[in-house]
Amino acid sequence: MTYTVNDNCIKCKYMDCVEVCPVDCFYEGENMLVIHPEECIDCGVCEPECPVEAIKPDTEPGMEKWLGLNAEYAKVWPNITAKKEPPADAKQWEGVANKFEEHFSANPGTGD
Ligand code: SF4
Ligand code: F3S
Repeated sequence: MTYTVNDNCIKCKYMDCVEVCPVDCFYEGENMLVIHPEECIDCGVCEPECPVEAIKPDTEPGMEKWLGLNAEYAKVWPNITAKKEPPADAKQWEGVANKFEEHFSANPGTGD
């Protein structure tokens, strides 16, 4: 089991999660973060920190598809351990449908 970031994060990218992770296993894409499944120790402290409920255990229904995405991009995106300024328009992307299909970016973020 691991915790996993889903599409709710896309374009919201609040980064409250990275502040609390004891093992620094978040990785940064251009418009979302992912968790490295093999580094996450399943402590669960990041889940309630996310304002848009983008973090769930991979055992929850519907999370299997996001586990693959997290595993894939955690290998290529840079590590992030400190919160930065969220996108200026983050609020307007909360709860928007089809964010993965229409807005996912495979480009890396800048990391720490
Ligand atoms: Fe980090 Fe714990 Fe969240 Fe895993 S569950 S990403 S170890 S804070
Ligand atoms: Fe994304 Fe939530 Fe973290 S929006 S960056 S998973 S606090």
